[in-house]
Amino acid sequence: MGLIQKYGKTALVAGASEGIGAAFAKSLAAEGMDLVLVARREEPLNKLAGELESRFSIKATCILCDLGTVDAPEQITKALDGREIDMLVYNAALSYIGPFVENTVEGNARIAQINMITPLKMLHIFGEKMISRGRGAVVILASLAGFQGSGFLTVYAATKAFDRILAESLWYEWKDKGVDVIACCAGATSTPGYNNSNPGKTSLFAPRVQAAEEVVEECLKKLGSRPSFISGKGNRIATFFMQKILPRKMAITIMGDTTRKMYRINF
Ligand SMILES: NC(=O)c1ccc[n+]([C@@H]2O[C@H](COP(=O)([O-])OP(=O)(O)OC[C@H]3O[C@@H](n4cnc5c(N)ncnc54)[C@H](OP(=O)(O)O)[C@@H]3O)[C@@H](O)[C@H]2O)c1
Repeated sequence: MGLIQKYGKTALVAGASEGIGAAFAKSLAAEGMDLVLVARREEPLNKLAGELESRFSIKATCILCDLGTVDAPEQITKALDGREIDMLVYNAALSYIGPFVENTVEGNARIAQINMITPLKMLHIFGEKMISRGRGAVVILASLAGFQGSGFLTVYAATKAFDRILAESLWYEWKDKGVDVIACCAGATSTPGYNNSNPGKTSLFAPRVQAAEEVVEECLKKLGSRPSFISGKGNRIATFFMQKILPRKMAITIMGDTTRKMYRINF
């Protein structure tokens, strides 16, 4: 069964203008879904909406919103003006790479707002309606960084652990209500966000950097069949070693050492 038959016609992608979010928008448009695209920058968002409308004959609506503002979910609900959302992809995230104490308290709180509080509220608002209609889908972007302590990605990693547990728990709560929830646990993925962070070389054994389209394709295949998944074979093998073979202390040390080296952190 296609996504529209299973969940409905309209998908909202939060953080849609580039990277994994834009790849979700393209795949969902290719399925024939109408889109609500949310991000801060008008130009890339309108460009993507225009491209998808003409290529796939769908309707794409743009909502400009900073997901880090306290009332972002209310702003989005107001802009939707009663329009139903059948599928929610919460993709946007903020990260800070570096020593915990070198980010400001406000900076760390903004990471928590964008990565945890806003999706928490949006899931409540849209999830409740999906349950009452008896169908719907939610995708939350998590990260391998959230599988163990990840020094120098500290707050980001903690929020991504939250996102995964949130999605997995709701998968259980909502599975008999017709609403599928999945945490998409991505590893390094080639996106403007990742590439602009200027990562250095990791070890020879580091998993291959994936394309955003690969992550999305796997996610949409697995949606409805499990609470969470790790994207890409290389990432699954690496996670198996880190989680099942190595002592936790060693896994945490490898993560911290790798990030320190990749980002040339002197702390
Ligand atoms: N790339 C990776 O290596 C990787 C690895 C693991 C997990 N992930 C996860 O995958 C997701 C997407 O990552 P990505 O690399 O594709 O990110 P990205 O390239 O940085 O793109 C993020 C998207 O979110 C939007 N966005 C960011 N902050 C926003 C805000 N405050 N309000 C509204 N929109 C906002 C951006 O648009 P505007 O700038 O126009 O607002 C952009 O469209 C994230 O949840 C990330 O944690 C990524």
